[in-house]
Amino acid sequence: MVVYYGQRATQGGLLIAEATAISETASGFPDVPGIYTDEQVEAWKDVVDAVHAKGGIIFSQLWHAGRASHRVYQPDGQATVSSTSKAISENWKVVVEDFRQAAVNAIQAGFDGIEIHGAHGYLIDQFLKDMVNDREDEYGGPVENRCRFLMEVVQAVAEAIGIDRVAVRISPVFDYIDGVDSDPHKLGLEVVKRLNKLQEDLGSKLSGVEALENGVADLIGYGRLFISNPDLVYRFKINAPLNPYNRETFYINDPVIGYTDYPFLDEKTHSSLKPTN
Ligand SMILES: Cc1cc2nc3c(=O)[nH]c(=O)nc-3n(C[C@H](O)[C@H](O)[C@H](O)COP(=O)(O)O)c2cc1C
Repeated sequence: MVVYYGQRATQGGLLIAEATAISETASGFPDVPGIYTDEQVEAWKDVVDAVHAKGGIIFSQLWHAGRASHRVYQPDGQATVSSTSKAISENWKVVVEDFRQAAVNAIQAGFDGIEIHGAHGYLIDQFLKDMVNDREDEYGGPVENRCRFLMEVVQAVAEAIGIDRVAVRISPVFDYIDGVDSDPHKLGLEVVKRLNKLQEDLGSKLSGVEALENGVADLIGYGRLFISNPDLVYRFKINAPLNPYNRETFYINDPVIGYTDYPFLDEKTHSSLKPTN
């Protein structure tokens, strides 16, 4: 991981690291990282240091998979937590606290900020989407209620580490693992409206509207092409051709293949970041 993220770091470039479990109940796949134990925080420091050494900026993506998990990944094989109305409502306070603590841990590990994973059918998205959320309390029903859990998480995290270090990823339109909403446009606007309001309330200098004034977007993120091009930023800068990505090696359990073995354009200047094992 140190080599992988180090390869992709550039002066002033922002990396958002992979989905990272915020607690023992948050994981959904084998071999995914966490940020809730001291040992994990220590391990992330080496990754963060490698990125900072090249002048890069790195955010930790805080993640709870919710029902997109399985008993085998849960402590004592217990049932997964989710947005269903049958769950015990006190559980949500625990999960909000887990996000807050994981954010503090990420800053302690040296991350420049965090991104709350509110997308792709995972826990927060399970609250946002009306085709999943069947709760009958104040966390379910109308869109204002379905946003409540996300906003509680964002507020707790922003108060703990400062709102300028907090990002939120949402995917109102995307239908992955049945995360479907009957009115994605309305849901997306509602979330953005609430996030802008919170940003104003918490006294940040930059308003979302101002930031948008001069363009359609503030930031464009890259996924697959950044996996296959460690020097993606450099290639964009000089308009160089890109390595194609290999789908077969996405998500595989190997320390090198598909992660740190994609070639740099200029091998000589990057020889120190070649995989070592
Ligand atoms: C192997 C792989 C792992 C991914 N892991 C995450 C993740 O942990 N968190 C996340 O928000 N998106 C994740 N994504 C989605 C990407 O961030 C991105 O949305 C997607 O690849 C589409 O953008 P692209 O066309 O630039 O690849 C992953 C994608 C791939 C291919």
